[in-house]
Amino acid sequence: MPSQLEVENVTVAFGGRRALDGVDLRAEPGRVTGLIGPNGAGKSTLFDVISGLRKPVNGSVALDGREITKLGPARRARLGMSRTFQRLELFGRLSVRDNLLVAAEMGPDRKVASAVVDGLLDRLDLRAIADTTADALSTGMGRLVEVGRALAARPSILLLDEPAAGQDREETERFSALLRTVADDGVAVLLVEHDMELVMEVCDTVHVLDLGKILSVGTPDEVRSDERVITAYLGAT
Ligand SMILES: Nc1ncnc2c1ncn2[C@@H]1O[C@H](COP(=O)(O)OP(=O)(O)O)[C@@H](O)[C@H]1O
Ligand SMILES: [Mg+2]
Repeated sequence: MPSQLEVENVTVAFGGRRALDGVDLRAEPGRVTGLIGPNGAGKSTLFDVISGLRKPVNGSVALDGREITKLGPARRARLGMSRTFQRLELFGRLSVRDNLLVAAEMGPDRKVASAVVDGLLDRLDLRAIADTTADALSTGMGRLVEVGRALAARPSILLLDEPAAGQDREETERFSALLRTVADDGVAVLLVEHDMELVMEVCDTVHVLDLGKILSVGTPDEVRSDERVITAYLGAT
């Protein structure tokens, strides 16, 4: 089921300070949409608003034209929204397989959960570590399993918060190919990531957030050559 995300004029304040200030953003099915910007720009806070963990003081979030601003995270998950967290949220004492299974059983059809997990173990090349407990994984592998966990619910929109942090170059390259196949399946992918090589390679559109405001939107080439983006972010990396 295609899923278009529309964020309009979202504002969030923490103790009087605006972490997000009138943010607009769109993510479309079949596309990888990037969200980049310096630490503290508000990227994870925007993910919290989109996934229903934080209510904005102003603005709206819509999925497929339906306003979901007031829905909680569980309802949004049932509408096909899935996310990963910057801080890993795996069950440390469960195996990789069981982490995926728990998520798959929350997906649209419980009966196919074990088949979904089997498919993901192959697709993400996790067979060799299927019985390893999550807390024994490297950060890079843990992030891949976290993405697997998000995919196990068979989302139509997938929010990824710095999924490649801690991955080595080879892991990132495989990850980049995986993201393209996820988008090719019709999923709307929204990607927060500092790895510019990955962002430039995999994203169709990039939004740049700085100090709670969208500074620039465009293709990777357009934002990369935007003077404001270079000054606020790229120049510093
Ligand atoms: N729960 C919170 N309480 C107060 N301030 C917060 C909270 N979460 C985030 N912030 C602040 O909001 C701003 C945006 O943070 P965040 O969304 O985590 O940025 P990013 O993910 O882009 O690094 C930062 O200034 C951060 O300190
Ligand atoms: Mg963050």
